Amino acid sequence: MPTPLVVAHRGASGYRPEHTIGAYELAVAMGADYIEPDLVMTKDGVLVDRHEPEISGTTNVADHPEFASRRATKKLDGVDVTGWFTEDFTLAELKTLRAKERLPKVRPHNTLYDGREQVPTFEEVLTLRRTLEKKYRRPIGIIPEIKHSTYFHDQGLNPEKPFVELVRAHGLNRRSAPMWLQSFEITNLKQVRRLGYKGNSTFLAWTGEGPLDGPYDLVSKGDPRRYHDWMTPTGLKEISRFADGIGPEKFFVIPKKPDGTLGAPTSLVGDAHRVGLKVVPWTFRNENQFMAKDFWNGTDPNAYGKAIDEQVAYLRTGIDGLFTDNPDTGVVAREEFRSRP
Ligand code: G3P
Ligand code: CA
Repeated sequence: MPTPLVVAHRGASGYRPEHTIGAYELAVAMGADYIEPDLVMTKDGVLVDRHEPEISGTTNVADHPEFASRRATKKLDGVDVTGWFTEDFTLAELKTLRAKERLPKVRPHNTLYDGREQVPTFEEVLTLRRTLEKKYRRPIGIIPEIKHSTYFHDQGLNPEKPFVELVRAHGLNRRSAPMWLQSFEITNLKQVRRLGYKGNSTFLAWTGEGPLDGPYDLVSKGDPRRYHDWMTPTGLKEISRFADGIGPEKFFVIPKKPDGTLGAPTSLVGDAHRVGLKVVPWTFRNENQFMAKDFWNGTDPNAYGKAIDEQVAYLRTGIDGLFTDNPDTGVVAREEFRSRP
């Protein structure tokens, strides 16, 4: 597989509603090396492909009067969230919904595809991966992320069990397989090992502040360590005992300065590589608003900026891949980086 890797973040989500079969097919057609499903659970214990349990932002559930009474407010990792939750739907019920664009104001052209696709299961995405491998005659990797593991366990569900069973059933349960598990939590990365998972795993971290600034499984038990503590040489050494890589938000790799322009690279990539961890940051997107000011074209936050230049700057830090909503941009950036490293 070519390196650095181009990972299609939620599929080619810059061009299609995220986490749909169409988004994954387009991503691979554009040259992505890996596809990324985020995973949550249904009431009947099926892993499905959504970024969060609350689905009003990415499906048409609000247009289904038969489900109106299921609207609820729940505490999700310490934060009140109102809407409809996957764990209150059976898979059969969830399959009656259709996906829609999460960011219609930013990506109005993607709304063309609203209402056309179902919510895929993890199993369907695993099957699609193999189908696309055969179609394009090249390895296609998959890098699923189990979302909110503690939240689902608190409700009597166990995402890790079907995860390991499905990875095994699809012939990907080996270290050499193009298979990585991601999580913002730690307990579940350890639990899958006890359940027999033999693929690779990566620990995610983001730079934000507030209730989600650390792994919720540990923070909720009083652990003082936040993500920025884990992204230090001491934290990375501990991560290397239970994971093979890190997925930091990109500003851990090159932060923004207070004026919004790009700063200097941190020591994170070298520190992680020294303890054997791969580094694949997120999320690279074409629109101005997601980049440091250096890469903006004009002042419209939704207009495309200099995304190729941004990604080349990050690739020069030695990262092992990048998550992007726009896999075609990632492929071009990688070519430019290779021609002028
Ligand atoms: O998994 C990498 C990246 O996707 C983590 O952020 O919120 O997009 O899942 P999120
Ligand atoms: Ca993700």
